[in-house]
Amino acid sequence: MTDSRFIPETHLDRVLVDRDRIAARVDELGRQIAETYRDQDLTIMAVLTGSMIFLADLIRRIPLMMHIDVVSISSYPGRSTTTRGPRWLLPISTDLKDRNVLVIDDILDSGLTLQAMLSAVRAMEPASLRSCVLLRKERPDLETRFEPDFVGFDIPNEFVVGYGLDFDNLYRNVPEICLLSEHATGEQA
Ligand code: IMP
Ligand code: MG
Repeated sequence: MTDSRFIPETHLDRVLVDRDRIAARVDELGRQIAETYRDQDLTIMAVLTGSMIFLADLIRRIPLMMHIDVVSISSYPGRSTTTRGPRWLLPISTDLKDRNVLVIDDILDSGLTLQAMLSAVRAMEPASLRSCVLLRKERPDLETRFEPDFVGFDIPNEFVVGYGLDFDNLYRNVPEICLLSEHATGEQA
């Protein structure tokens, strides 16, 4: 038998959000954001790597003049599915003073990544600061959490991959948002 490099079906438990629902929601978010910034200059600051596909789809749904920049923050080093706190890999390189900044990230879990990003932007004295995440995990165990201005989907507190989100830097190219199975994490009995 040949050892193929296709993603094994057993690695993904089930599709949580399919392509059509993602596309429809990204359209709506684009419309809301365009309406919010219709009279302002907009600077998008995306948090890589997880937001790369969301960013690429979203910006093409916002027909405004905009600047786009990226930072890179790692929250889940290697094969972990619990955050160890954000680590900056690529810091902010644009002067954001007096800009209207919209921070884009893939998913809000503990909120630590977005908080780190927002405080770094705030220190640069932007004219306004908002945030947008594709996914927000339900975390009833947290007493307080920063809440973004724009949210794509609320999802259960489970580890998801696909549409840019990874486990151990894998599965980002899966087109849907899927639950990762224990066969992928090596946690199966
Ligand atoms: P937080 O700092 O706990 O809010 O985690 C946010 C960051 O961790 C996100 O930017 C993601 O990169 C990553 N992350 C959180 N949950 C997941 C998940 O279920 N799958 C993949 N990455 C995740
Ligand atoms: Mg991230």
